[in-house]
Parts: sequence; structure tokens; C-alpha cells
Amino acid sequence: MLVLGIETSCDETAVALYDTDRGLCGQSIYSQTELHERYGGVVPELASRDHVQKLLPLIRQTLSQSQLELSDVHSIAYTSGPGLMGALLVGASIARSLAWALNISAMGVHHMEAHLLAPLLDQSPPEFPFVALLVSGGHTQLVFVRAIGDYTLLGQSLDDAAGEAFDKTAKVLGLGYPGGPEIARVALTGNPSRFKLPRPMTDRPGLDFSFSGLKTAVKLAVEKRLPLSTENLADIAASFESAVVDTLIIKCQRAIEKTKVTSLVIAGGVAANKTLREKAQVLDCQVFFPQDDLCTDNGAMVAFAGHKRLTAGLSDSLSIVVRPRWDLDRLDPVQQC
Ligand code: KG4
Ligand code: ZN
Repeated sequence: MLVLGIETSCDETAVALYDTDRGLCGQSIYSQTELHERYGGVVPELASRDHVQKLLPLIRQTLSQSQLELSDVHSIAYTSGPGLMGALLVGASIARSLAWALNISAMGVHHMEAHLLAPLLDQSPPEFPFVALLVSGGHTQLVFVRAIGDYTLLGQSLDDAAGEAFDKTAKVLGLGYPGGPEIARVALTGNPSRFKLPRPMTDRPGLDFSFSGLKTAVKLAVEKRLPLSTENLADIAASFESAVVDTLIIKCQRAIEKTKVTSLVIAGGVAANKTLREKAQVLDCQVFFPQDDLCTDNGAMVAFAGHKRLTAGLSDSLSIVVRPRWDLDRLDPVQQC
């Protein structure tokens, strides 16, 4: 079965083709970073308009680069939530209309499930059950994964998501958007022990997170040292990155001990962070990350998640439904796998 995957939940227009026998046949990603950079964050209306312009050409380009035709596609998977309402509607409308015109099925995919399953695209994927740490721009969650679609939320951020904390802190530091890669770049030459920043909520039991206080701690450190020298900027960035990473690692270790799993998946945009990848090696289990380009938003993970659901015989209604908010533990379990 050849599945066309479409991702438009935020500021990436992404398309991929995933086939039962051949695996990932091709993918293209168009990032809107330049469009939103000057506003310091994603402007939802601009994101939707840009998806409208870019999606169909990107589908054509991906098909032609893979030497495939629209008529070769057996089904279409698209992100139907969570995400920005307008942006999701562009992907859902185009996916459903194309499927209708081609007389094939379409399947709405949960964006965070797609992130969570991305490491299963690898040659040596993790086996169920495992714990997943999902760290993106909108979510920070620890999830117990029994099988595809069978999820129990163990903990989550009570305020800012980890990616959001990187983005907001980058703004405080006068760095560009998205903030995660910017902070990571500047932190390379910094001293992560110079500023004693908190590891929020690690001094009490539980698996929830809170990152908004860290941003405030950085703000205070910055205000005392304006204008920031290159050295101070690097040291603050490195200390912040280290605080976020340590907090994530401490909670992961707790989740591993609580569930007694032997595998942990770390996925979502922040999983691209090199310090997180290095420090995760201290965890008491085998750790799986998606390959680098499949951490941030992409079409491959959507095509793959949709393929898993479609080949398990699940179907979706014909209506164009998007869910800007959508709980991961409300999904239908998938029996195969
Ligand atoms: O998963 P993603 O592409 O989109 C959402 O679903 O939100 O995640 C985007 C987030 C942004 O907040 C971005 O700053 C963060 O991932 N990010 C990183 C890195 N690359 C992207 N954070 C830390 N280090 C990175 N290298
Ligand atoms: Zn994402």
C-alpha cells in the first residue's frame, strides 16, 4: 500500500510517500521560518495562506522526485490535529478532496502519535512496550506506549512546553526563531555550570513538568548583565539548555523506574538537541531517537502513522474534521504491529 502523507499543523508544509514494501519512497519539507522570523513566532493566518500556496506544488514535486504518479497512491494520511486550526484545515481539505477525486481512502493522523512513532521508521526500531518523551513546540509529555494507539499519559508540562521554553528564552536572549537550534548553536561555546538555574519540579515526586519559571530566571540573569557580552550570552544559553535537558532526563529516569520498561523513545523537535541526545545515554534503558531530520515536523512520520492505521483496517469518516486540541490517550488502539 502506497500512502501519501501530508503535514500542515504548524509552520512546515511537508509531504512524504510511504510504501508497505519499499518503506519511505520520498519526502519534501518546506519550512516557513523566514516568513515568521520577523514576528518572533508563528503567525497563524500567514501560516495557513502559505500552506495553501505550497502544498499542491510540494505534492507534485515529491511524486515526480520519487518517479511516481498520483494514480499510484492508494491512500492519503494527513495531520488532523493537534495544531493551528487554519493550518490543519488546509491539509485536511486538500487531502480529503484529492482522496475524493482519486476515489481512495484518507485517514486523519494525530500529530503527536506521528512524532512518537517516528523511531519505528528505523532499521532497528524499539519494541513495545516503551515510554515516550514527546518534546515539541506545543507539547511536553511522558507517555506509556503499550502498542500503537494504546497510550497512557504519565506526565506533562503544566505550563510552557520544552520547545516553547527554548523559543521564548531565545527571544529574551535576542536570538532568532525557532529558538531551540539558535540556543543550541550559541551554547556550544558556553559554560553550562556558570549560572545555577533551577531544575523545575524535580525536588518533588511525579512526572509533570513546568518550564515557565526557567524563562523568568534567565530574564533576571540577562537584565543584570545588559548589554550581553558574547561570553555571557553563551554561558546563559548553555546553562539554560543544561537545565532543560537535566530536568527532562531526571523525569525520564523516574518514568523508566515507575514502568520498568527497557526502552525509551525521545521524539519531537527538541529531540534534535545534541546535548539531550548525549545526556540521554546515562538513562537506565535503551534510548531511541528518530533520525535527525525526522525529529522536527515532517511528512514521513504522518505517512507512516497513517499507513499503520490503514493497514490495520481502520477507516475514517469522509468529513473534513480537524482537532486543534486532541488528547493522545483518546485514540483507537491498532491491533496489528
Ligand atoms: O516538533 P516540532 O517541529 O513542532 C511542533 O510539533 O511543535 O518542534 C518544534 C520545536 C521548536 O520549539 C524548536 O525550538 C524546537 O522544537 N527545536 C529544538 C531544536 N530543534 C528544534 N529545541 C532544542 N534544540 C534543538 N536542536
Ligand atoms: Zn511537531
